[in-house]
Amino acid sequence: MQAIISIQQLSKTYASGFHALKSVNLDIQRGEIFALLGPNGAGKTTLISIVCGIVNPSSGRVLADGHDTVSDYRAARAKIGLVPQELSTDAFETVWSTVSFSRGLFGKPPNPAYIEKVLRDLSLWEKKDSKIMTLSGGMKRRVLIAKALSHEPAILFLDEPSAGVDVELRKGMWQMVRELRDSGVTIILTTHYIEEAEEMADRIGVINKGELIVVEDKAVLMRKLGKKQLSLQLQTPLQSIPAELAGLPLELTKEGHTLVYTFDSQTEETGIAALLKQLAGLGIDFKDLHSSESSLEDIFVSLVHGDAPAAQKEAA
Ligand SMILES: Nc1ncnc2c1ncn2[C@@H]1O[C@H](COP(=O)(O)OP(=O)(O)OP(=O)(O)O)[C@@H](O)[C@H]1O
Ligand SMILES: [Mg+2]
Repeated sequence: MQAIISIQQLSKTYASGFHALKSVNLDIQRGEIFALLGPNGAGKTTLISIVCGIVNPSSGRVLADGHDTVSDYRAARAKIGLVPQELSTDAFETVWSTVSFSRGLFGKPPNPAYIEKVLRDLSLWEKKDSKIMTLSGGMKRRVLIAKALSHEPAILFLDEPSAGVDVELRKGMWQMVRELRDSGVTIILTTHYIEEAEEMADRIGVINKGELIVVEDKAVLMRKLGKKQLSLQLQTPLQSIPAELAGLPLELTKEGHTLVYTFDSQTEETGIAALLKQLAGLGIDFKDLHSSESSLEDIFVSLVHGDAPAAQKEAA
């Protein structure tokens, strides 16, 4: 299937000489939710701004539904809705007029029923006649989402959509984003909330210092880079790991009370059965055991800090 957005060898050097993006290649598939994760200053907003035609690339190009975002700007931009990171709204306008006006900017004929639906979905209907300046921060952010949706775009960019939105409304917003995806809209979001990426995304890209270091299906990423651990709470604490068990990925924690076995969640043979047999042979009894797996947060932190184990580097 042809990608709805194709980012090719995209680089950006700002006038200050700062290299914000370094030869980024990325295809976004039609109908997916793609989450772009990266620390502050990684280049997320720069990337989105170039795709939306707000910032010019230094080299490379972007196609949005086949339209070059520089040479065919208007056609490309009409396909895209953008919810910017920074709050910037016309303070004196009402919610209704600012959202309706946005639609007009893209040359779309008025459609009050559609605007009403968008405002209702975003819990803004009661505020439709309020001036933007009288709204709370979270409401203003939702107005930005309504504006971005006003012209029924095929592609929606959400740059930190949850910043400043309370937990309950955030859940409502996620639900709305899912419904948009189900209606055929392609969604690209950046977020600092790993939980949000974990919950929402079909695919995840990790960007660090202007380089896209990983792009992977969420499930594959978690399977590939995730580690599982089995913790055995010992009957009697151990001073050290017995020589017979040397060479196994074992660690003694909690002052010898807990034995932790780390295994690769990808392989069929975890080695747990053999380990338990060996422990029984050595007369090491345990009271309790539990297993845990690494979260997307663990994976993200190790990727960005570059202390990823071999398996993780491979995926990068
Ligand atoms: N107009 C500009 N001129 C010079 N440097 C800029 C400009 N805009 C952004 N930068 C720099 O480019 C880098 C990437 O910025 P960008 O806003 O894309 O990061 P980000 O990943 O969106 O970060 P955050 O998570 O904080 O939103 C930063 O070091 C930033 O200082
Ligand atoms: Mg940003």
